[in-house]
Amino acid sequence: MIKSYAIFSQKGGTGKTTTSLALAAGLARRGRKVLLVDVDQQEDSTIASGVEPEDVVFAVADVLNKVCTAKEAIVPTEFGYDILPSWGKALAALTVKPKTKVHFRKIIDEAKEDYDYIVVDCPPNIFGLTVQVLESVDEIVFPAHADSFSERALERAIEEIHAVRDGKNRKLSFGGILFNRHRPDYNATKFALPLFERLSTEYGIRIFETKIPDSTYVRESQLMKRPVYDVIDRDYNKAAPAFDAFVEELTGEKMKEAKNSNGKQDAGTAGSGREGAPANRQARKAGKRGSWNGKNGWK
Ligand SMILES: Nc1ncnc2c1ncn2[C@@H]1O[C@H](COP(=O)(O)OP(=O)(O)O)[C@@H](O)[C@H]1O
Ligand SMILES: [Mg+2]
Repeated sequence: MIKSYAIFSQKGGTGKTTTSLALAAGLARRGRKVLLVDVDQQEDSTIASGVEPEDVVFAVADVLNKVCTAKEAIVPTEFGYDILPSWGKALAALTVKPKTKVHFRKIIDEAKEDYDYIVVDCPPNIFGLTVQVLESVDEIVFPAHADSFSERALERAIEEIHAVRDGKNRKLSFGGILFNRHRPDYNATKFALPLFERLSTEYGIRIFETKIPDSTYVRESQLMKRPVYDVIDRDYNKAAPAFDAFVEELTGEKMKEAKNSNGKQDAGTAGSGREGAPANRQARKAGKRGSWNGKNGWK
């Protein structure tokens, strides 16, 4: 493995899932082996990757509960990256206490031989499983809106992340702050930027040069369950090149082959080359699920 990233902010709706999806697909486009891990109960990156949580037998909570290995739960997507899916009900039932043996690091340890990059889409809180993720990864990327709520959420989170860094994960570094849904023309943006610049200086966190514009194609791609690079009106889709620039700025990975045979960007499928239903889904179809019992919880 080259690097593992947590995509994190304590505030909901800043673009954690959108960034995770774009980073995973963007690295896959560059021919890298990528695992996206969805640890959010909302299952958004699972669903937007074309994987139905109800269709898989095992999800991330099963790995943590030692019901299965990470390899058994990982599902290939059509877009070149693999996903360790979330199944919200099971994650909700998972109790992560300080001294339990459940630890997210086991997923990274198991997957690191097989992947160049691991991207973890985090929930908007900093307790339980999220802390374990931060204790396990190399770098954190903070998607943020240039507004005062995002700035406050970030400052609070940084304090807590320092505790993780001083404790269980001394290698943890700040990848940077990524402005998403960016509107440089708004006065609110102009007022908020100095607040972030202060944070950046005080805590030594870079602000990415790349800013992701507000683009309807982001939501469109998620509705279509395809990577943002894949939506049809590519000429107008300003989010796709911005995310591509972000992937390069973060990882240094350059695009080797940006075009496919018809001369268009072949965003979604580069590097996939996998066919057929994944074992995890085949097993589900064969009726093997049974470890979740809605009333009595997870067994
Ligand atoms: N750059 C963007 N342009 C337009 N809509 C966006 C953009 N980034 C995110 N969104 C939309 O904003 C909402 C929240 O984004 P999401 O990635 O789910 O945030 P989070 O995971 O932090 O809660 C989603 O509906 C998503 O489609
Ligand atoms: Mg999300």
